[in-house]
Amino acid sequence: MHNRIHIKNATIVNEGRRFVGSVVLDDDRIEEVLEGRDALPTLPADEVIDAEGCFVLPGVIDDHVHFRDPGLTQKADFDSESRAAAAGGVTTVLDMPNTLPPAVTLERIEEKRAIAAQRCHVNYGFFLGASKENAATLSKINPRIVAGIKLYMGSSTGSLQVEEDDALLTIFEQSRLPIMVHCEDTPTIMANLRACKAQHGDDPDVCFHPIIRSEEACYKSTSQAIRLAKRTGARLHVAHLTTARELELFEPNDGQITAEACLPHLVFTDADYKRLGTRIKCNPAIKTEADRAALRAALTDGRICCVGTDHAPHTITDKMGGAAKAASGMPFVQFSLVAMLELVDEGVLTIERLVELMCHQPAKLFAIENRGFLRPGHMADIVIVRPDSPWTVTPNRILSKCNWSPVEGKTYRWRVESTFVNGFLIYNNGQITNDNFRGRSITYLH
Ligand code: DOR
Ligand code: ZN
Repeated sequence: MHNRIHIKNATIVNEGRRFVGSVVLDDDRIEEVLEGRDALPTLPADEVIDAEGCFVLPGVIDDHVHFRDPGLTQKADFDSESRAAAAGGVTTVLDMPNTLPPAVTLERIEEKRAIAAQRCHVNYGFFLGASKENAATLSKINPRIVAGIKLYMGSSTGSLQVEEDDALLTIFEQSRLPIMVHCEDTPTIMANLRACKAQHGDDPDVCFHPIIRSEEACYKSTSQAIRLAKRTGARLHVAHLTTARELELFEPNDGQITAEACLPHLVFTDADYKRLGTRIKCNPAIKTEADRAALRAALTDGRICCVGTDHAPHTITDKMGGAAKAASGMPFVQFSLVAMLELVDEGVLTIERLVELMCHQPAKLFAIENRGFLRPGHMADIVIVRPDSPWTVTPNRILSKCNWSPVEGKTYRWRVESTFVNGFLIYNNGQITNDNFRGRSITYLH
């Protein structure tokens, strides 16, 4: 028994093009992508969805989430955060290793995979955390089971930091997988923090966060990562760029050394600390208006090759305090697509480029098998979004366990109407449709 769904009359955005047409789903796969208003499926459909006025995109692949499971489930877990993802049109997430215990061995990865298999409503993949201890063994990792290696070249939430030059070189030499790096130079941060505390007390106001976690700290560390990649030939993906100066280090559309931008740094500036306080405290810090403008420009010139969220929920209690004490990170996975569509409305990028950055590129970068594109034979991960349908982010709409959002009160013009994961309509008109549906572990062609 096949279940064939015909989504018709939508504006389809895929692989650099936009056209009115149909997508036909056959069970968990895409069967056909057809151009034209009256195009008919080759075989009759069991169900027809008229998506007139809507846009149909490949489901978003978020290459950067912290779902906190296991060990930090007071903040978030695979159940709650994957509901938020589905509601945001995100059909695949790549989860970071700074969970408890940290995911630094394949056994830990398999434990996380088992948890996700039980709880996750969208598709999932994992990064293996690089450590001093596992550095020499990275070449033996089966490239088919993780998306990549995550390396913290600077301190942030958790204890996964690697600082020693010899360990860093070993990691770059050994890894056959993409190495996604958090670049911030800890000695620079520590010196800045000491100076700031001397002037402003033990827990300075959050507006000093970008002074402490400074442009210099980012530039130094990103330069070092690029030097290591050039020396070893490793595949480097620098996570969450935040400054115009770092962008100068990247070549457009380079195959070896790439950069990610994350939602917090694309939508906020340091002027927002006054209004939003520690809610927008994250590492690396949100910097200046000029930095944000440079990041936005780099979305289209090829120096930023993908957009993730760095979805990093903390309880509201964890966010209390200032630049020193408040936890760093904010939830975003539920609102990333609509927030980026707003940038499309503002003329920052085209919707075709958005699809490139949020759907196609993550699939390509991490060699994800059969996802990220609307193509016959690919898995049916699809999102239907409607323009001109304003709605406001209110606490009752937030599905993340922490139940707060840096964009509370914000009105978005675009609405996620429906999300299909592996051909299953998991989110529709404001509701998760089925508590029992589970996503799959993604596979790779590294
Ligand atoms: O702000 C951040 N939060 N940056 C990170 O690097 C980690 C993340 C977290 O896990 O909380
Ligand atoms: Zn992160």
